[in-house]
Amino acid sequence: MESQIKRFFRETAKTKLNKYHAFLRSKLKREIREHGKSEEWKTILKSIERSENPIKIEGELLRFGNGEKDYSNALVKLKPWRKGPLQFGSTIIETEWRSDWKWERIKKQDIDLNEKFILDIGAGNGYYLFRMLEAGAKVALGVDPTILFNYQFAAMQKVSSKNNAFLLPLRSEHLPAFEIFDVVACLGVLYHRRSPIDQLKELHSFLKPQGKLLLETLILPEKEKEEIIIPEDRYAKMSNVWFIPSEKALQIMLQRSGFSQIEAVDVTRTSVEEQRATKWMDFQSLSDFLDPDDSDKTIEGYPAPTRALIIATKP
Ligand SMILES: C[S@@+](CC[C@H](N)C(=O)[O-])C[C@H]1O[C@@H](n2cnc3c(N)ncnc32)[C@H](O)[C@@H]1O
Repeated sequence: MESQIKRFFRETAKTKLNKYHAFLRSKLKREIREHGKSEEWKTILKSIERSENPIKIEGELLRFGNGEKDYSNALVKLKPWRKGPLQFGSTIIETEWRSDWKWERIKKQDIDLNEKFILDIGAGNGYYLFRMLEAGAKVALGVDPTILFNYQFAAMQKVSSKNNAFLLPLRSEHLPAFEIFDVVACLGVLYHRRSPIDQLKELHSFLKPQGKLLLETLILPEKEKEEIIIPEDRYAKMSNVWFIPSEKALQIMLQRSGFSQIEAVDVTRTSVEEQRATKWMDFQSLSDFLDPDDSDKTIEGYPAPTRALIIATKP
């Protein structure tokens, strides 16, 4: 993880991100909380031999490393793998999420990513950063506070040739008001924030004028009502879901946070094929979170997960 942080500062020194290096260094110093398993993850990372291989997309797989090498002994110790599917050498990682499906929904929108600076808030293991580079982005910077995902990203980079995907172990609220990014993505994060308007205002502050926000979040299936539910306790067994708005309520929240040209370009009910337990993510997954007698409802009786993809502009 440290090597990825150093790589970020080295490789972006001659870009417009340079202006924020001192701020980011001080935040990293103050905010990084290593995990109890960090030493174990560092040892695993050391065991992966460094090599330089182009990152490829083949069919549904995002591929890293030398195609013949078996990386399974090391990578199994970095479970759970949530975002993918991935292939490391000859090792195929069936991840919890078919992130390629979400990417297809994004790609359909034809947002111009060519030569753009992109920021991905809550980037997980960095899956979408690589897809954004493939779509022509100049720099794809992600932040995610989950330390394991930063080690997974470091494993991907350890077997890859030079590229401009970077991941820092920070939270959205640790970042400065950059005002330089052409596109800011925030996929599957908003409902985890206790203060959603603050999150939207942060996203707004990262964008340059005319920049595009790509927001994906849980919504209620009711289209017309201006309604927000706050789960009494858990939602789909998650204790960190703080609110779910209707599409209309979400549009108002975006507008009040300073965005214009707000459009829900896709609304998709999450299926048990898109989010499922696999041998690389062997905890419970969506099928365990739904009411066994009524799959329209979560086990707690709330509407089953439906996600909207919104594109909005910073005027
Ligand atoms: C449901 S996952 C979504 C991952 C990925 N964006 C996707 O759509 O597949 C939510 C991610 O947000 C991260 N996260 C949670 N709170 C965050 C915050 N305040 N700032 C940035 N990331 C955060 C979590 O660590 C987790 O990786």
